[in-house]
Amino acid sequence: MAIERTLSILKPDALEKGVIGKIISRFEEAGLTPIAIRLQHLSQREAEGFYAVHKERPFFKDLVSFMISGPVVVMCLEGENAVLKNRDLMGATDPKKAAAGTIRADFAKSIDANTVHGSDSLENAKNEVAYFFRSTELFPYTHKK
Ligand code: RTP
Ligand code: MG
Repeated sequence: MAIERTLSILKPDALEKGVIGKIISRFEEAGLTPIAIRLQHLSQREAEGFYAVHKERPFFKDLVSFMISGPVVVMCLEGENAVLKNRDLMGATDPKKAAAGTIRADFAKSIDANTVHGSDSLENAKNEVAYFFRSTELFPYTHKK
């Protein structure tokens, strides 16, 4: 399997609950290494730009206002099969439908406050990582077999 990179965001509810360490541990235990990590309070423009693909959707306004309601952690995760692995660890968008043991099942309380974002394809991952990080801010590790 290929080493990939993906964008992860720990949403404002993760910081409010104080569970960012627990979530990052799950990524590390699954072989996903943060190679860039930053606390950031998104502006409305940054959040709207990030979620631009959803701008015609009925939930867009609520999504943006939630994402700017407090600081977030933005991370680039690197590892084997990182895009899909991250999505599997996150669980379904609606925490009520998320499989037991996933991040959203364990920490999220609603479809808006659903704790984590993860890129949904390799192509989107490239664009999303570049949206938040310059290439000089990424610190690739040598991966164990
Ligand atoms: P994300 O982009 O945050 O990783 O979430 P996702 O891929 O699982 O879901 P996506 O379809 O990309 O939607 C982005 C975020 O919008 C909110 N949403 N609300 N009320 C609704 O029907 C609805 N659908 C989506 C969620 O907060 C979702 O994470
Ligand atoms: Mg999405």
